[in-house]
Amino acid sequence: MAIISSKKQPPEPNGQPKQRRPVASSPPKENLLQPEAAVDEGKQEESIRPHRFADYIGQKDLKDVLEIAIKAAKSRGEVLDHLLLYGPPGLGKTTMAMILASEMGVNCKITSAPALERPRDIVGLLVNLKPGDVLFIDEIHRLSRMSEEILYPAMEDYRLDITIGKGSSAKTRSIPLSKYTLVGATTRVGALTSPLRDRFGLIQKLRFYEVDELSKIVLRSAQLLQTPVTEDGATEIARRARGTPRIANRLLKRVRDYAQVKLSGEINEKVAAEALQLFQVDPCGLDWTDRRMLSVIIENFNGGPVGLETIAAATGEDTQTIEEVYEPYLMQIGYLSRTTRGRVATPAAYKHLGFKPPNEQLSLLP
Ligand SMILES: Nc1ncnc2c1ncn2[C@@H]1O[C@H](COP(=O)(O)OP(=O)(O)OP(=O)(O)O)[C@@H](O)[C@H]1O
Ligand SMILES: [Mg+2]
Repeated sequence: MAIISSKKQPPEPNGQPKQRRPVASSPPKENLLQPEAAVDEGKQEESIRPHRFADYIGQKDLKDVLEIAIKAAKSRGEVLDHLLLYGPPGLGKTTMAMILASEMGVNCKITSAPALERPRDIVGLLVNLKPGDVLFIDEIHRLSRMSEEILYPAMEDYRLDITIGKGSSAKTRSIPLSKYTLVGATTRVGALTSPLRDRFGLIQKLRFYEVDELSKIVLRSAQLLQTPVTEDGATEIARRARGTPRIANRLLKRVRDYAQVKLSGEINEKVAAEALQLFQVDPCGLDWTDRRMLSVIIENFNGGPVGLETIAAATGEDTQTIEEVYEPYLMQIGYLSRTTRGRVATPAAYKHLGFKPPNEQLSLLP
């Protein structure tokens, strides 16, 4: 069915008249809305990363569970259970691991699975742990099989089983380890083997943040960056940050540069909106791939259902990234639904991209 355009378009969130948003044929060179940290961004993030529970905004369910676990472990004088944190990039997994260690008053050793390729790397880390330490392994779904097998007894019984020698003369020796807490983080919980997953006492999902939570994060970061920002200005940035603190902080920095160059003093709603429009940040935080996904579903497949492979081919992304990074946010804001037959664009997605939603098209037919 052809899309019937209408002269009267639904209003934008900020009250502007709606216009059809054409999707550029290729993604922009710089994507301010990507949820992964950019090269060199890690260091900049350190200066605004919260270090205490009180500064960790949102994720109430996660905080409730962990606060109880910490209190219980402290009162029993025991180490905290091994904890697996999973969820899309930039939602605060690393930050939470570091807060846990500081709330427990212990050291946090940070590593990531690709750095533990050889068994000796993980053995070296484990034997050097002090009682109570937190060992944080990022991207834990990428552990090599050998390293993972070393981890099983190390998690369950705080013990290393090491085989010395080869063939019939090989002997296994057990080395006791200090009691420690493993915190694993992953964006792909489904890719973890079940023996590894089962060895975590606590498995917690991080969810996308609400606009009011992101707004508080922007206000806090602005204070640390000594950048004056009004509440409206913070909300305008928060609305476009895809539910992700990393993106909110990145947008704040870009808006700060804009405000400085324009000598506009504080960042208010108008300045934030102007700057973000200039940087081509969509009012709902959609990036090129999101818009391309939705426009392919709407324009080429009449709203769906469309298979994941087709969407991946149309956007040049791999199916995993579509499933783990793009779809969760589009579903969260109600622009996409997943059915057994494929992905479907919702009426809200039609409206956002400036198309007439299907039921309204029908009502226009004679
Ligand atoms: N709840 C929060 N409150 C305030 N700031 C936060 C919160 N969560 C994350 N941040 C900010 O967002 C940035 C990114 O968070 P973090 O590095 O913990 O994400 P992540 O989930 O580990 O991402 P990745 O999957 O890419 O490793 C941090 O520098 C921190 O400043
Ligand atoms: Mg991280």
